[in-house]
Amino acid sequence: MDLYEVYPLLVLGAIIGVFSIAFVVAYVTMKNKKEAIGFDRHMKDSEILVRLMRYAKPYIPQFLLVGLIMLVSIAYDILSPLLIGKIEKVLSSGFEMSELLAYIIVYASILLISLGATYLQSIILQKIGQKILSSLREDTFTHIESLSHGQLNSMPVGKLVTRVANDTGAISMMFTNLFVNLIKNCFIIVGVFVAMLCLNYMLTLMVLCFVPFIILFTVIFRKFSRRAYRRVKDCTTDINTFLSENLSGMKITQVFNREERKAAEFEEKNRNLGKAKHKQIFVFGIFRPMVYMLYISSIMALFYLSGMGYITETEFLGQAITADILVSFYMYISRFFNPIQNLAEQFNWMQSAFASAEKIFTVLDIEPDVVDEPDAIELDHVEGDIEFKNVWFAYNEGEWVLKDVSFKVNAKETVAFVGSTGSGKTTILGLICRNYDIQKGEILIDGINIRKIKISSLRRHFGQMLQDVFLFSGTIRSNIVLRDDSITDEEVMKTCDYVNATHFINKLSKGLDEEVRERGNNFSAGQRQLLSFARTIVHKPAVMILDEATANIDTETEILIQDSLEKMMNIGTMLIVAHRLSTIQHADKIIVLSHGEIVEQGNHDQLLKLRGRYYDLYMLQFKKNQIANG
Ligand SMILES: Nc1ncnc2c1ncn2[C@@H]1O[C@H](COP(=O)(O)OP(=O)(O)OP(=O)(O)O)[C@@H](O)[C@H]1O
Ligand SMILES: [Mg+2]
Repeated sequence: MDLYEVYPLLVLGAIIGVFSIAFVVAYVTMKNKKEAIGFDRHMKDSEILVRLMRYAKPYIPQFLLVGLIMLVSIAYDILSPLLIGKIEKVLSSGFEMSELLAYIIVYASILLISLGATYLQSIILQKIGQKILSSLREDTFTHIESLSHGQLNSMPVGKLVTRVANDTGAISMMFTNLFVNLIKNCFIIVGVFVAMLCLNYMLTLMVLCFVPFIILFTVIFRKFSRRAYRRVKDCTTDINTFLSENLSGMKITQVFNREERKAAEFEEKNRNLGKAKHKQIFVFGIFRPMVYMLYISSIMALFYLSGMGYITETEFLGQAITADILVSFYMYISRFFNPIQNLAEQFNWMQSAFASAEKIFTVLDIEPDVVDEPDAIELDHVEGDIEFKNVWFAYNEGEWVLKDVSFKVNAKETVAFVGSTGSGKTTILGLICRNYDIQKGEILIDGINIRKIKISSLRRHFGQMLQDVFLFSGTIRSNIVLRDDSITDEEVMKTCDYVNATHFINKLSKGLDEEVRERGNNFSAGQRQLLSFARTIVHKPAVMILDEATANIDTETEILIQDSLEKMMNIGTMLIVAHRLSTIQHADKIIVLSHGEIVEQGNHDQLLKLRGRYYDLYMLQFKKNQIANG
């Protein structure tokens, strides 16, 4: 080969070289920027992979089957160029119809078999993927259920929704798509490479010259795309968090006329996501043409090398190139470059799936901080004695909300907590059911430390009526029985009657089957409260805990609530926070709190005689009522 004949190849090499240098420069400068963004993964890929594999384990036989089917589908990729080469030979030298037909039939059958195999493979994979997806979702959900109130408070709902909904999806794609295609593409690359070597090792070497560039581009591409993916992910989480919070708070937004401002905030987040997506597309938009350029370059080199001698008996470094070899090679090159490009992209998807997996595993790794002790006991029966012994509690370390609180409640007694807002009433009620664990002191139920009792067993004996009544979407019945099928309609109605809820239920067209919308927003605060009474009583708790809402309730409902409360006080032990002191006048004991400390305790008459805080509070309400009543 003369020197001038090599020029075109040199020009080709120079073009590729220039691009490579440009990319390397971009890569190096970007590396510096990376730290500024600060997204470090703390789990190793191998660690994530091992954990993911645990989910795939039950499906090993199916995966093996898929592997076998995959080998069949690969056969087409490797054999078809050879067959096309053969067909070319038949066409160009001594045309023989029967021979041609034979080749075509073989080609068609391989194609059909491979298509069938691919179809079968994807059906099986989709099924496995869905199963893995749902078990992953279930695991995440049940794990979130096991977290304590404190842990749940620290995590935005939108984030959790993203974890359960989006991230699990990304992982399932890994099983349905990525792993198998990754393996498939590796097989194809190896297969095609071997086939090319057998056909003409010199031309194969020529193709190999392009491989280092592919690797270089791929490495650079991975860095860029990884960053782009993370941006997209972060922005998605951001939008979901914003949405879940603001959709729940939409009414407040409207009441305060903040629609425009919120819309602007949303727009910005939306724009950020759009930008992130653009960047991601941009990165792919550069990478794909780059690989394509390499592909075209190698094809051009192939044509150039073989075309120099007008194909017939061209020798390239001692090996003869014939027309059918040229045709086969032409096809092989594309068969070779395609899986490489796919691999690079799949590695990316994989990174993205790993990022999702890591996020999910981070949630799954949160150790519930309120858990059963190893020797925790089941509590079959509860009398209802409750004792706080020098209890200290803080939500955040060092900021004591309860300071050395001690009191005793005997079974069947009614004890009321009063005190100004923020004094720790709700906190005390939450501690009894171990919504949080205390830092110092002891809480005893029937003389047993609540830490020694299984949480589920403990909570079964308590009926909590919380300050903000939460109703689930469903029906009135479903909100009262809460999936306990053993409760009959008759019992439900009896209970509703007992707590005076039938007054309004009977007015509803569907009665117990009346639809309850999200959070019960189609019921009034008073009605919700009555429903929560019914919900609590129907489960026959030994201890009832009531945190009365401060919300104003119409007088009629208030009388109903008052009446049902008085009835409930006779059922079992009752701990109550009431804002209307009239409600608790008949309580056996009233505990007055101030800044997390008990300042007075005794019954209504004793406390009035003390002329202390309770007396002040009582007089204040008394006067207010007098003014209200004229
Ligand atoms: N989840 C929480 N995380 C951190 N601090 C909290 C949390 N819940 C309550 N607090 C703080 O603990 C203190 C006591 O709150 P708590 O809810 O027990 O008051 P409360 O007596 O029930 O008031 P209210 O009458 O308004 O219902 C308050 O200062 C409050 O800021
Ligand atoms: Mg409260």
